[in-house]
Amino acid sequence: MDFSKKIINWYKKNYRKLPWRKTKNPYYILVSEFMLQQTKVSQSIKYYSNFIKKFPNINKLARAKEKDVLKEWEGLGYYSRAINLHSFSKKLKNNIFPKKYKELIKYKGIGPYTGAAIASICFNEVIPAIDGNALRVFSRYLGIFNDITSTKTKNTFRIIILKMMNSESPGLFNQAIMDIGSILCTPKKTKCLLCPVKDSCFSIKNGTVDKLPIKRRIKSIKHRFFYYIFICDSDKNIYLNKRSKKDIWKGLYDFPLIESKNKLTIHEIIEKICKKFRLIVSNIMIIFKIKHKLTHQILFIQFLNCEILQNLKKKIFFDNFFLIQHNKIGEFPFPRPIILFLKHEKMI
Ligand code: ADE
Repeated sequence: MDFSKKIINWYKKNYRKLPWRKTKNPYYILVSEFMLQQTKVSQSIKYYSNFIKKFPNINKLARAKEKDVLKEWEGLGYYSRAINLHSFSKKLKNNIFPKKYKELIKYKGIGPYTGAAIASICFNEVIPAIDGNALRVFSRYLGIFNDITSTKTKNTFRIIILKMMNSESPGLFNQAIMDIGSILCTPKKTKCLLCPVKDSCFSIKNGTVDKLPIKRRIKSIKHRFFYYIFICDSDKNIYLNKRSKKDIWKGLYDFPLIESKNKLTIHEIIEKICKKFRLIVSNIMIIFKIKHKLTHQILFIQFLNCEILQNLKKKIFFDNFFLIQHNKIGEFPFPRPIILFLKHEKMI
């Protein structure tokens, strides 16, 4: 039996029973693949079901407001995925879903992996879906010592894996690799004895399971210090900010922010509030602190309750700032640390 048949047979007996595996509906697969970019399966499941319930087809999604799409994505991270998914649905409205890999990857947010996953699972196109899991499995199986983060290596893998693929069931082949990568051929504590292709694996034969794959060291982690200024007037109106710059959390909402590369003292924060927002602080107090880790950055976040001298109603001090009634706060999509803060303050 060849490689492809062995892994597909294994998959048929051992596959993870995930909600998006009950269907070949391209819209459902599209949603699941967008969610699974950079996110674990366990975390995606609940979001997937809620998202499909809220937007059961592509036309419903196309007609939705971006704010409501982001609300369904709230807490999942990498919010540009939601914006790109929404934009795909709007471009497609009443059109036919693209069936070919080459067509799919023309859309923003659909990279080679997502395009290949959709094209193979939904439309039987023979094209390998190569993510970190697949690169690990094939580096070990074939004994490839090239840096898996380089584009050149990925292209080499694409050619080799394409030759190994079963032309009858490319979708099953790709999903079998996904599951072997996450169940057996894991980064640590591999379960090689259970592997359907252990007899022909280079790394088992040569003792290189723990040495592969080869990965260039990831770039250093950046530290950012966020000081959120929580301003609430006597009518319990709150200042919010819509994040619109090319940075983390684009499209989500937060509070007026002082950001720094270094830790600031209360005195320095007050000074910056005065300079940046032209506000005179009469009282300030740290009410919540949180450390939030992202892929290449760590955010040290403090929330400061801030009393100011000015009359808030007259003062819109920055482009994207606006006042909302406190009981409307649940309608806006927020990044995870803000959600935790609002829960801590029993505001949601
Ligand atoms: N990771 C990315 N795509 C996936 C899929 N379709 N099933 C399981 N894990 C995945």
